[in-house]
Amino acid sequence: MCGKISEKYAIITNNLTKNFGKVVAVKNLNLKIPYSLTFGLLGPNGAGKTTTVRMLNSIISPTSGTAKVVGYDIISQSQQVKINSGFLPESPGLYQKLTAKEFLEFVGELYYLPKEIISTRIEELIILFDLEGRENDLLEEYSRGMKQKVCLCAALIQDPKIIFLDEPTSNLDPAASRMVKDLISDLSKKAEKTIFICTHLLDAAEELCDLIGIIDNGVIKAEGSPKEIIESTHTKDLEEAYLKIMGATRIEDLLAWREETPKNIKKYKKTEKKKKRREK
Ligand SMILES: Nc1ncnc2c1ncn2[C@@H]1O[C@H](COP(=O)(O)OP(=O)(O)OP(=O)(O)O)[C@@H](O)[C@H]1O
Ligand SMILES: [Mg+2]
Repeated sequence: MCGKISEKYAIITNNLTKNFGKVVAVKNLNLKIPYSLTFGLLGPNGAGKTTTVRMLNSIISPTSGTAKVVGYDIISQSQQVKINSGFLPESPGLYQKLTAKEFLEFVGELYYLPKEIISTRIEELIILFDLEGRENDLLEEYSRGMKQKVCLCAALIQDPKIIFLDEPTSNLDPAASRMVKDLISDLSKKAEKTIFICTHLLDAAEELCDLIGIIDNGVIKAEGSPKEIIESTHTKDLEEAYLKIMGATRIEDLLAWREETPKNIKKYKKTEKKKKRREK
């Protein structure tokens, strides 16, 4: 159940800000994300993406500002926020001495789900993520990608209304990554879930996201549908638009050092030769 079904937005933030000492990780963030859409938060390393999702999941408190997630206030109704949202963290902690099944049972119990529902969901998720036959192995025996799949199962086990995925395809092989992208698309289109993804993968964002926010140094620099962002920057795809927004006008500009370095070295060698000749 949502806090207020009548509310149009799954997420509303109002000047949401987080400082870590002198570092301003997120500054005056104002987002409005309607229900049943997929929102992608893009930005370079250290831009404030993980800090934003951690605040929206009531894991850390904002320094100032407010936010509501599925109608619940992230500070005063943090328990409701956690119950109603699924979260795949950037570096999830797993209990290595549990089997995948035991771990998922444990997560299901944290959400106070009835035992029968937990076991049905686990069976479905194990099949969906192609982990059949391995569910009774210890997690310490799993590969990184398999662990990522188990974490995705954990984020989905309570069938949340809203799902936060921080770099969902990291550690996955191309087939598993494709499967996760299809799953995200299905969850959004067929199951009408609201999905909030943090990613560096611009092609995945362009394919999956209805709305995108580009964040840099804690500040949103562009917002809109991928099409709107591409059109407003007069570029041909989201990658070019992103690079333009981040300050590199052409992809070649970013790679210019490759060309420049040998030229610089040649120039340096020439000057050195001239110097030596003069010395003689
Ligand atoms: N617990 C913390 N203590 C101190 N500083 C922090 C903490 N968490 C994040 N920061 C700082 O806040 C800023 C934003 O970090 P954040 O993890 O949100 O970035 P990000 O966009 O998720 O980056 P990445 O793409 O590398 O995951 C960075 O400068 C980071 O050093
Ligand atoms: Mg991060």
